Amino acid sequence: MDLPFDGAISRYYASGAPEDVRRSLEGADGKAIVTESYPYEERMGKKAYARQMETLQRELVKLQSDVRETGKRVVVIFEGRDAAGKGGTIARFRENLNPRTARTVALPKPSDREAQQWYFQRYINHLPAGGEIVFFDRSWYNRGVVEHVFNFCTPQQRAHFFAQLPGFEQGLVDEGFHFFKIWLNVGRAEQLRRFLDRERDPLKQWKLSRIDVEGLPLWDAYSEAIRETFERSHTESTPWTIVRSDDKRRARIAAIQSVLGAIDYAGKDTAALGTADPLICGGPELWDA
Ligand code: ADP
Ligand code: AMP
Ligand code: MLT
Repeated sequence: MDLPFDGAISRYYASGAPEDVRRSLEGADGKAIVTESYPYEERMGKKAYARQMETLQRELVKLQSDVRETGKRVVVIFEGRDAAGKGGTIARFRENLNPRTARTVALPKPSDREAQQWYFQRYINHLPAGGEIVFFDRSWYNRGVVEHVFNFCTPQQRAHFFAQLPGFEQGLVDEGFHFFKIWLNVGRAEQLRRFLDRERDPLKQWKLSRIDVEGLPLWDAYSEAIRETFERSHTESTPWTIVRSDDKRRARIAAIQSVLGAIDYAGKDTAALGTADPLICGGPELWDA
């Protein structure tokens, strides 16, 4: 079988990965939690997940009707390292929503022309009108993290970005957008396990990119960039919600609860909604490099 990037992920697993990462994966069965600091030893069971997810889906549908009735504008950005589970989490948010009302924005790398615009400009073009919910699968935070780690921007451009960021996001809040920032946090061994899975599974190979492969040895550079990004962008009116995503089921549930918990909508069933598990979902103190 031809592996993408000539099997670079398995090669890294065999000979490049830090010893402790390799050890966490060795002998771990497919279902074990491999992140040592993770607060649970086992993944959430299928049945409990299905039950809770169904309740949350009903609440999301109520939110959607309310957003349409009242003309709210909702923006949720999803960030996190490669393979953190952004795409899958967004898919669960959208599962029962009208694709016209609730859409995903996943922009490619900037074109030559976009590279010469104001950095925030191409994102602004995709913000919701009244009655719409927009999920950003990656966002302007690329400049804080991946563009920095891969030198796609200059240090000056990044500093300029950080200087403008709080004002830009405060502007969204002042303008009346309901604005959420979710950071999915995945451990290093779990990330590698997902990459290995993507390398071998023809249905998942499309998810692998040069950035994923070349990013493998850059874990610590990412950590530093992420730490700095939180420092510069976790504010009282535009806080980050960190969701530990080593177990995708718990992560998806907590992410949906965190958004629904923070927005009012007609018919909201607070008891059914519950509150996000504080061991899984919280502020930057939950982030674990
Ligand atoms: P994803 O994880 O979203 O599937 P990648 O891992 O390939 O995508 O890339 C991560 C991010 O880096 C994407 O948002 C992509 O647009 C961005 N990116 C890739 N190459 C460049 C570049 N040359 N300049 C700026 N951004 C880039
Ligand atoms: P996906 O294709 O996005 O559903 O992800 C499946 C992969 O995610 C598996 O191969 C596991 O490595 C990982 N995973 C993490 N948490 C869970 C979970 N609770 N149940 C099943 N797979 C999980
Ligand atoms: C994710 O799984 O977190 C992203 O949506 C896809 C990727 O990082 O390759």
